[in-house]
Amino acid sequence: MTNRLEGKRALITAAGQGIGRATAEMFIAEGAEVLATDRDTGLLEGLDCETMRLDVRDDTAVREGVARARPDILFNCAGFVHHGTVLDATDDEWDFAFELNVASMFRTIRAALPGMLERGGGSIINMSSAASSIIGAPDRFVYGTTKAAVIGLTKSVARDYIARGIRCNAICPGTVESPSWHDRVAALGEKLGSHEEALQAFVSRQPMGRVARAEEIAALATYLASDESAFTTGHAHVVDGGWSGQ
Ligand SMILES: NC(=O)c1ccc[n+]([C@@H]2O[C@H](COP(=O)([O-])OP(=O)(O)OC[C@H]3O[C@@H](n4cnc5c(N)ncnc54)[C@H](O)[C@@H]3O)[C@@H](O)[C@H]2O)c1
Repeated sequence: MTNRLEGKRALITAAGQGIGRATAEMFIAEGAEVLATDRDTGLLEGLDCETMRLDVRDDTAVREGVARARPDILFNCAGFVHHGTVLDATDDEWDFAFELNVASMFRTIRAALPGMLERGGGSIINMSSAASSIIGAPDRFVYGTTKAAVIGLTKSVARDYIARGIRCNAICPGTVESPSWHDRVAALGEKLGSHEEALQAFVSRQPMGRVARAEEIAALATYLASDESAFTTGHAHVVDGGWSGQ
């Protein structure tokens, strides 16, 4: 299949690297008109589409991005992983994570939804995680709590606009190779005194014996963005190599 997103306009947050970038590339390849955004514009270089600096914590920038993109597809990809248990978490980490991982989606959806309703439809895709209400992952207290909130937010939006052409779904990946994942492996490597051991610790909990490629998550985002998924809304879609499925 080709041109699965022809005639559609997409706004993507955190498109500079990792899953966001892989998704931007796939959306472009499938014929969408993409506005790829990121807090760090340097990371957007090389993408064959319109780009813009957008920090998802900045409501004015969010509104500018939405006005520019007039999106039929909104992919909320920005998010940050904090490490640790409830006893490790600080108030600042909690506030930062809810701001970046959850409140940003409230802002982008609030800005994009009126235009989608006016044009008769839209697909909103929110980045959650398998570490959420799906499973409790070790040392992911703040992160997992925010990503569970993303699922609640997703279901609420889906329910309220189900009869008005709007679909809203969440993606729940397992562990995905990305620049920030490499940082997490490196940090654990320093703690353990061996990079190889850290890599092994991440990979050993994967039933398939490997982590995901960002393209494998982008493929789900593309499906949810396209009309192929026209009967699908309000769900948390797990793509985790069987991590939560056993
Ligand atoms: N990598 C994984 O294992 C994994 C698993 C499940 C879910 N996720 C989620 O997928 C999303 C992307 O993660 P990734 O690992 O693919 O990419 P990443 O963490 O390597 O990159 C994150 C991107 O977000 C951008 N960013 C950070 N703060 C921003 C802000 N305030 N506004 C706009 N952009 C900002 C960064 O510049 C960077 O380009 C996140 O929401 C993450 O929680 C990742």
